[in-house]
Amino acid sequence: MEMDAVRAVPLHPELELMHVDADTDALDVRSLCKHFIVNLPKKELPEANGVLQRIGRFFRKPKKRKLAVDNISLRLRRGEIFGVVGHNGSGKSTLIRMISTLLEQSSGEIRVFGMDPLRQAYQVQRLLNRVSVDAAFFKKLSPNENLLYAARLYGVDDKSALKRAEEILAKLGLEEGRLTDSMQELSRGMQQKVAIARALLTSPVLLLLDEPTTGLDPKSKRDVQDYILELQRTHDATVLLTSHDMEEVERLCGRIALMADGKFVARGTADELKQQVLTRRIERGEAQATDGLPKMEEVFIELTGHEWLSAEEDVDKPD
Ligand SMILES: Nc1ncnc2c1ncn2[C@@H]1O[C@H](COP(=O)(O)OP(=O)(O)OP(=O)(O)O)[C@@H](O)[C@H]1O
Ligand SMILES: [Mg+2]
Repeated sequence: MEMDAVRAVPLHPELELMHVDADTDALDVRSLCKHFIVNLPKKELPEANGVLQRIGRFFRKPKKRKLAVDNISLRLRRGEIFGVVGHNGSGKSTLIRMISTLLEQSSGEIRVFGMDPLRQAYQVQRLLNRVSVDAAFFKKLSPNENLLYAARLYGVDDKSALKRAEEILAKLGLEEGRLTDSMQELSRGMQQKVAIARALLTSPVLLLLDEPTTGLDPKSKRDVQDYILELQRTHDATVLLTSHDMEEVERLCGRIALMADGKFVARGTADELKQQVLTRRIERGEAQATDGLPKMEEVFIELTGHEWLSAEEDVDKPD
């Protein structure tokens, strides 16, 4: 139902300009892997034999390959909001960075509306925008100045950029008076709202939202979520969103993937995931068909094998 309504939204002008067919998947990711070379953790180091080996280690630390994204395949239709949930270090941001041309994959293929971020980086960058929790700004400049800078990069004229920024920020609940303060004077939540406005200024076709609401107060969270839903209703926008907030993904996302150790360990609608867990419990004799569906937090624990931690608890944990 919802999908049909979304598809009735006219094709984004940028897609028309690039002669992209309306039926092309917004995103098609196949067998994507990314490994990093990292220092071997102390506990995995074999015993050093003698002084020479210890000195050798001091100058040349033993390394290992760390698979951050492990064989992920994913297709997003135009207009879909797809959620990825996983703990710190599960690989969510690495996945998003590869799609947004910031990072090269070790293997596998990515297509954004049929285009390859490695070979057609410019076209892909025109179509997408990314918001991340650690958004970078010119800290001494104001939100307005930062937004204008971004708008000019994308060829949006100053007047319409400022008008649109004001509209978006009003919806997200950032007071107009703060738009001329320097960024460093704003709280982290306020900066986050400016980051979201910056990404939406250019009306991206594919929006990559890496924990867009982490650290926001409940009212602001709701405002951002409402805006994402409105965007999906009124624009030709497709969204890939990562989150630590189960309520959020359940509210926003048609389909959800649970990510652990670089892999998608389960995916489906919230109800399908819940049903999957209930069925498992019935098979184990721990539940009956008449029992209600479990909560998403329980689904996460059972399907990822990780204990559920709320966003506030789930910070700065070593891998
Ligand atoms: N540039 C890098 N060099 C080495 N290792 C990296 C690099 N970037 C990420 N990693 C490692 O890859 C794994 C996945 O990291 P990633 O940032 O994608 O996780 P995440 O799911 O986004 O976590 P969080 O919820 O904390 O944002 C982690 O083990 C991380 O330490
Ligand atoms: Mg991340």
